[in-house]
Amino acid sequence: MKEKADFNDEELVPSRECRERFLKQHSATLWLTGLSGSGKSTVACGVEKKLMVAGHLCYVLDGDDVRRGLNRDLGFSPRDRSENIRRVAEVARLLNEAGLIAIVAFISPYRKDREEARKIIGPDRFIEVFLDASIEICEKRDPKGLYQKARAGLVAEFTGVSAPYEVPEAPMVHLKTGEESAELSATRVYEYLNQKFFLKTPGKFFYRRKEQ
Ligand code: ADX
Repeated sequence: MKEKADFNDEELVPSRECRERFLKQHSATLWLTGLSGSGKSTVACGVEKKLMVAGHLCYVLDGDDVRRGLNRDLGFSPRDRSENIRRVAEVARLLNEAGLIAIVAFISPYRKDREEARKIIGPDRFIEVFLDASIEICEKRDPKGLYQKARAGLVAEFTGVSAPYEVPEAPMVHLKTGEESAELSATRVYEYLNQKFFLKTPGKFFYRRKEQ
């Protein structure tokens, strides 16, 4: 006679570790913060390419993009920015649960909001990356013409002009994007992940019991 299993298969749900094992990677969130024009989207795309080429599944969450859909009801008041960050942190957490590496590119100007995001995602998975380009350089680049509009008073509460940007105190990766190329910055982020063993295959394949 067949021995009865300890528990039913239906009582089991695949764990994050199981999905990580499936994808042969550790999940994490790269949180790119910096002024508009500091290179967040470009560096995020560069990192994404490098990770994908190396066989790692990742997904970029970009401020401009997310604000067109999920967060289209939000503006740029401190309160709306907090809600913007809270929601994207929750999405990043879910992507991490699914085993993916999330690359978040949001100005995220307030320290307390980034701290909240760190708590939502979990401190062991949250990697703060500071894209450090001066306001002068970002304003000179002005890829969307928004600094010019903000100076003319046509865009209210514009970060760096009429709204604050709180510099990260201890970012895990500090990129001088005003001086170095986006390609070099992307390489630095990729190397950081590699050194911290986030890209190594987790050891065990196991399930957890469904929470009651
Ligand atoms: S955040 O401050 O809430 O994190 P987020 O990254 O989502 O900002 O969006 C920033 C983008 O919105 C900018 O790159 C810019 O294109 C656009 N934008 C429009 N109005 C503003 C504003 N007042 N301040 C900053 N960015 C703005």
